[in-house]
Amino acid sequence: MSQAKKRRVFSGIQPTGQLHLGNYLGAIRHWVRGQGQKENFICIVDLHAITVFQEPEALRHNTRSLAAMLLAAGIDPDQTTLFVQSHVRAHAEGSWFLSCITPLGRLERMTQYKDKSARQERVDTGLLTYPVLQAADILLYDADEVPVGEDQKQHLELSRDIAQRFNHLYGDTFVVPEPKIAKVGARIMGFDDPTAKMSKSLAGKGHSVLMTDQDKVIEKTLKRAVTDSGNEIVYSEDPEKAGVNNLLTIYQLMTDKTPEQVLADFADARGYGDLKKGVAEAVIEGVRPIRERYNELMADPAELDGLLARGAEQARAVAEPKLIQVKEKMGFGVPAEVRP
Ligand code: AMP
Ligand code: TRP
Repeated sequence: MSQAKKRRVFSGIQPTGQLHLGNYLGAIRHWVRGQGQKENFICIVDLHAITVFQEPEALRHNTRSLAAMLLAAGIDPDQTTLFVQSHVRAHAEGSWFLSCITPLGRLERMTQYKDKSARQERVDTGLLTYPVLQAADILLYDADEVPVGEDQKQHLELSRDIAQRFNHLYGDTFVVPEPKIAKVGARIMGFDDPTAKMSKSLAGKGHSVLMTDQDKVIEKTLKRAVTDSGNEIVYSEDPEKAGVNNLLTIYQLMTDKTPEQVLADFADARGYGDLKKGVAEAVIEGVRPIRERYNELMADPAELDGLLARGAEQARAVAEPKLIQVKEKMGFGVPAEVRP
């Protein structure tokens, strides 16, 4: 029986900082649940990370730690190709070819570049050419879809334009990828300030739950979560109730219940103390198995290396023939001895 070809999805995530509950509920869980329906590639973009200085030891640790966390959270190597960008040379090489057909002005107008470069004393070239490397990531895999946040829309637009320009100059080669901008859904807010999104850069006491946090730490963070001076446990858009709303949203996602079921669970609660206790329990139950599997993977470098080597091999099997195609179309000879 013939089967329709699965659509190919390419996601990239930077190995900087530790993953928190917002990353898990807002991104990783969707990747885990979407496995199987489409052909998924998840790339840990360490080459992108160094556009801002990274301590070598920190980069090494963060890259492995992110891989372990993704696997622990349920990314299944049998269903998803999970790999590290720097393990597949075609990304860096491909980005050179694409940079030669990318107008400088387009890169200079990228808002992320403008923001980041304004905050830095010295601006290195990689920060500017970052979106070209991103285009190489995506185009080398003939990705149909790229799930990204709103902030990446402009980069995706550029990837599409580069694909089209290449196809125009050298003949049909690249799939023009579609951005899949996440619907405004789960936006997990900080526990210390429920009006600000939970974020790696705001990490501090009481702000987030990290996916590596011990039960006791989670309990403490939730206990201290900022709410309001009332006592009504309701979903609400009112900024005043942002804390309670955030807690209910997190509980709902962690338990996979409907809003009605969530409210029923807290119908007998006596105040926010009970709410926080219930949410803490749900978060602890959800995070614990992930943390335990993460610790196992981090304690067994051979297993993690093996899984990443397998991912890189699968990725190379797609990216390298594509790169050869690109080079041949552009007029480079690719003699047998330099073929992978
Ligand atoms: P970042 O930590 O900003 O690199 O984001 C990694 C992924 O997690 C992206 O897909 C974000 O959209 C998602 N994410 C980050 N923070 C949150 C949050 N507070 N709520 C929901 N999703 C988030
Ligand atoms: N620029 C993306 C971010 O900061 C990360 C990224 C790199 C990416 N390459 C990608 C995302 C390819 C999607 C596809 O979030």
